[in-house]
Amino acid sequence: MKIFAYGIRDDEEPSLRNWKKANPDVEVDHTDQTLTPATAKLAAGSDGIVTLQTTPYDRESLQILNDEGIKNISIRNVGYDNFNFDDLADFDMKLTNVPVYSPNAIAEHAVLMIGRLLRRIPEVDVKFDNGDFTWAPTVGKEYREQTVGVIGTGHIGRVAIQMLQGMGSKVIAYDVFHNEDIEKQGLYVDSLEELYKEADVITLHVPLTSDNAYMIDEKAISQMKDGVYIINCARGELISTDALIAGLDSGKIAGAGLDVLDHENNVFGKKWGSIDNLPDPKIKNLAERINVIMTPHNAFYTETAIRNMIEISFNSNKDLIEGKIPDTLVYSKK
Ligand code: COI
Repeated sequence: MKIFAYGIRDDEEPSLRNWKKANPDVEVDHTDQTLTPATAKLAAGSDGIVTLQTTPYDRESLQILNDEGIKNISIRNVGYDNFNFDDLADFDMKLTNVPVYSPNAIAEHAVLMIGRLLRRIPEVDVKFDNGDFTWAPTVGKEYREQTVGVIGTGHIGRVAIQMLQGMGSKVIAYDVFHNEDIEKQGLYVDSLEELYKEADVITLHVPLTSDNAYMIDEKAISQMKDGVYIINCARGELISTDALIAGLDSGKIAGAGLDVLDHENNVFGKKWGSIDNLPDPKIKNLAERINVIMTPHNAFYTETAIRNMIEISFNSNKDLIEGKIPDTLVYSKK
């Protein structure tokens, strides 16, 4: 049995070595490159591939894998919105993800972003760099004075809720699928409009689907409280960047914490030397603002997460190759 892995980073190598040691019956080969039409043939002779990338998995790459007889794909991350399921169906491919590698990694990142915005840390940092050690005017706000609206009560949203409650925030939540525990706590509001109306801070923890793309648009923002903070550690396409910029310009939105951005692949994952050199004018606009905290889709990036991403994805791929149906299966034609 052979598995070929794409996009393997140096920080994943130790976990990959451990997996190989525990699975001597599996031959594993890998590249640091992502899956593209130019690299797809590298997997020739393999029974499955393990991969991770934020760019689309294009049909041409899948076609090449299919021509090589490769039908088993395992991603090392949660979100599979960069796959077109029609392509997977046409090629009769199976896909697994890693639904729970570390909800804490992302939830912590979101909660830290909230704290940094509430305590105006970017402004304080600039003052510090200029030798300004005074208090005013950077007075902060406390978590316990905030109503935080958590949109999405899956694994990540629920950990974020626990953390926020630990900090003393009042939490309200919205999800089309209700979780029993969150229901018991009485945290659900009936509609997004209600959440928008009541929340001082809104944090997004939903997957991207065809139904919720650009859900945070001009209309949604107009329904929010004046001075709202918006946090997005989920998917960039959940927020209309134009609407966000307009909301920040008008002061309707007091600040934003963004680990993901619409069109983030234009800028993330590369070294630009300076924000001045960012080629995407909208992303540059956001990056230049003192009340916007931006991180390059690295909320997931912890040692725990990396370990689990490797182990669970490779186990899943091995299961697929052996004809088993792992509980990480997200697509199979039959
Ligand atoms: C995910 O797990 O879906 C993420 O957003 C993390 C990233 C490595 C793609």
